[in-house]
Amino acid sequence: MEKKLQDAFNEQIKNELYSGYLYLSMSACLDNAGLRGFARWMKAQANEEYSHAMKLYDHMRERGARILLGAIDRPPADFSSALEVFQKTLAHEKQVTAMITDLYNLANSLNDAAASIALQWFVKEQVEEESTASGIVERLSMIKDKTDAMFILDTELGKRE
Ligand code: FEO
Repeated sequence: MEKKLQDAFNEQIKNELYSGYLYLSMSACLDNAGLRGFARWMKAQANEEYSHAMKLYDHMRERGARILLGAIDRPPADFSSALEVFQKTLAHEKQVTAMITDLYNLANSLNDAAASIALQWFVKEQVEEESTASGIVERLSMIKDKTDAMFILDTELGKRE
């Protein structure tokens, strides 16, 4: 792998780990608010981000590239509502989509077919990530302060493995 692409992969490993760190912080906040189902869903999302980082890590490892792990920033810890949490999740996923697009374009510009193919998985995954977060934002926006509906959604999201 070219050095420039290795650097960009290393940066994205860090970004995926930060996503996991952010979602774990959100999960803790949701738990503190008594929203156990939302918290469980967000904790599963944090674990998924770790698996995204590992996909990039393993691609580099299999190709003998130099893996250099960067420092992960401290995530925000205070959120005023579940709606705010999911609005911020959606905004964050949009940023990740832009990062993945840049990384994919870089791999293509360097004619690195193996990296391009590996990154296609992430391009598709981001469509799903944005769609899921957007769906929950829509439902929370409709629910507003109706506690019954909130309880139903909390139970539903808590079923995530
Ligand atoms: Fe790794 Fe949620 O994108």
